[in-house]
Amino acid sequence: MLHQIQSYLPDNFPWKSLVKYFDTITSTNDVLKEMARAGAPHGTVLVAGHQTGGRGRLGRSFHSPADVGIYLSVLLRPNCGAEQMMHLTCAAAVAACNALEKSSPITPQIKWTNDIVCSKRKIAGILTELGMDSPDKLNYVIIGIGINCNQKTEDFPEDIQSFAGSLSMLSGQETNRALVAANLIKAFADMDVVLLTNQPEIMQEYKAKCITLGQEVSILRGDEVNHGKALDITSDGGLIVQYEDGTVHTVSSGEVSVRGLYHYI
Ligand code: BTN
Repeated sequence: MLHQIQSYLPDNFPWKSLVKYFDTITSTNDVLKEMARAGAPHGTVLVAGHQTGGRGRLGRSFHSPADVGIYLSVLLRPNCGAEQMMHLTCAAAVAACNALEKSSPITPQIKWTNDIVCSKRKIAGILTELGMDSPDKLNYVIIGIGINCNQKTEDFPEDIQSFAGSLSMLSGQETNRALVAANLIKAFADMDVVLLTNQPEIMQEYKAKCITLGQEVSILRGDEVNHGKALDITSDGGLIVQYEDGTVHTVSSGEVSVRGLYHYI
């Protein structure tokens, strides 16, 4: 698999020799975090065919079965503070949509903040994590993404079957997983080049792809559920919501889950 992935990367691609492949791993984010602490360089990429401890946002697990998905994490060491990385997940979501569009005949969209969806089904999830040297000094960031490539409905756990999808389910074609991995790696490298300079353009693209905007949504914070309308997205990725009582608040992805009023999306 590693050679296949590398065969899709240009010869002069700067991260080419930094890509590592594992048939099975606990979590590409967790292992890459260890490597980051041990000094791994900017551009290190871990790709796995199976995760035994895949993690999602808000402490959830991420179902990562063998040989049908791609589980991938990228290590960046941007020269800035954490406050300049507020739009990182949005930038990663835009890059992921562009990569998936090149890998499969589908048009992916974004469900705020970190889900990639198509035809109202979640096909990928993103988990970004920051490592700090001290409260104001960023050491590394990790972008982790899991893509459902060749799953059939029955391959998903029952509780997510109604809203999970894969590239092959939605395109009607077998997905080339090595090509998906290579296109993602290239898209994250392109994103890295403009991450600190092009925030307005990135957020423009994010909003254009975000299906949550304009929708009636449920905002879930622990056991509390509130209903409102998603009005806009701030320059650092917060969701501006007008609640039923007319008040307007910005919610950040670290605190809440958002659902369509009657469905997941
Ligand atoms: C989510 O849907 O909440 C985010 C899922 C992120 C999953 C990816 S798979 C690769 C990387 N390793 C992990 O343990 N998680 C991310």
